Amino acid sequence: MKPLRFGVLGAAKIARSFIAGVGPSALIDVVAVASRDLEKARQFADEVGVPRVHGSYEALLDDSAIDAVYVPLPNTLHAEWVIKALDAGKHVLCEKPIAVSKADTLAMFDAARRNRRFLAEAYPYRAQEQTLALRRLLDEGAIGRVQTMYACFGVKFSDPANIRLDPERGGGALLDAGSYATSMVRMVAGEKPARVNATARWSETKVDLTVVANLEFPSGLLAQIACSFNTAYHRHAIIAGSEGVLETTFLNSPPDAGPPHIHLRRGIPSSTVRETIELAGGNGFLAEAESFARAVALGPELWTGSTEQESIDTIATLEAIARSIRSGNWEIV
Ligand SMILES: NC(=O)c1ccc[n+]([C@@H]2O[C@H](COP(=O)([O-])OP(=O)(O)OC[C@H]3O[C@@H](n4cnc5c(N)ncnc54)[C@H](OP(=O)(O)O)[C@@H]3O)[C@@H](O)[C@H]2O)c1
Repeated sequence: MKPLRFGVLGAAKIARSFIAGVGPSALIDVVAVASRDLEKARQFADEVGVPRVHGSYEALLDDSAIDAVYVPLPNTLHAEWVIKALDAGKHVLCEKPIAVSKADTLAMFDAARRNRRFLAEAYPYRAQEQTLALRRLLDEGAIGRVQTMYACFGVKFSDPANIRLDPERGGGALLDAGSYATSMVRMVAGEKPARVNATARWSETKVDLTVVANLEFPSGLLAQIACSFNTAYHRHAIIAGSEGVLETTFLNSPPDAGPPHIHLRRGIPSSTVRETIELAGGNGFLAEAESFARAVALGPELWTGSTEQESIDTIATLEAIARSIRSGNWEIV
C-alpha cells in the first residue's frame, strides 16, 4: 500500500493530536494544512512538521498532491466542507459529530457515493482494541441479550472562546461529548432508538452544558446517556444483559498510566466473579487513520469505525434528544 496523503482543513487544536498520532504510520502522510490565514497555516505547519501550506481551504482541495482530507472544523461547517472535499475528489475523515443534522449527513453520504469516495466520521475509540473486543464479546453472547445500557462522557470546558460554548458554531455538550455516548449506545444496540426523552442544564452562553437522555429501542433495550461540560473527566459504559454484565471505558487513546480493561461478569447471581480483560492500548488517531487508509486502498469493509448507517442514526438520535429537551416530551427518532 502506498501511504494515503492527507491534507488538514484548519489549524485546529485536535488536528495537532491527529498529526502527532499518525506520525509513526507507514500508511499515512500528512502532507498539507490549510488555514483561513496563510501565516497561521505556516506557523502551524512548522510546529507540527507538515511540508505544504495553503491560505484557504479551497486551495487545499485543489492540491493534487492530496488524496484525503481530515476535517476538524467547527461542527456547523462540517457538511459544507466535507461535500466540497468529496466533490474535489478527496476521501474524507470528518471529526464528530459528522454534522449538525440528519439532512446534512444524508447529503454528505450522497456526495461520497456520487464521487465514489470514502467518507467516515472520526471516533478514535472505535479503532481501539478495547472496542473491537467489546463487540466480539457482545456478538458471541457473553452477556446474553442486552437489556439496559448506560454510557456517559463528562469533561470541563468553561472558556467562552471555545467553539464548544458557542451556539452559532454547533456548541453544546450534546453534539460534543453526547455524540460519543450516543454513538457507543448505537453501536451496542445495532439499531436506532424508536424514541427518546431528555433534560438539560444550560450555560450562560446558551448551549446545553449537561444532558441526560433516555433511549427506547425497538428490541426492548432501554438505554441512558449522560454528557456534560461541567464535570470532572469521565467516560465509561455499563452494559447489562440477561446473562451477564460488561463495564468498559471508551477512550480515544488510553492514558500512559496503563492498558485499558473490560470488566466482564458471565453469570446472573450477585456472587458472579468479575473477570478483568486487559487489552492493548495505543494512539486512537493512529489506529483510526490506518483503518481509514486500509478502507480506501482495500475496501470499506476494513473500516472499524462508525458505518454510514451508524453515523446517520447517531445524528438523528442527537437531533431527537435536542427536540425533547425543548419540548419536554418523548420524541420519535
Ligand atoms: N475526536 C475527538 O476526540 C475530538 C476532540 C476534539 C475535537 N473534536 C472535533 O474537532 C472539531 C474541532 O475541534 P477543536 O477543539 O480542535 O476546534 P478549534 O481548535 O477551535 O479549531 C477549529 C478550527 O476551525 C477553523 N475555523 C474555520 N471557521 C471557523 C470559525 N468560524 N470559528 C472558529 N474556527 C473556525 C479554524 O482554523 P483556521 O483558523 O486555521 O482556518 C480553527 O482552528 C470539532 O468538530 C470537534 O467536535 C474531536
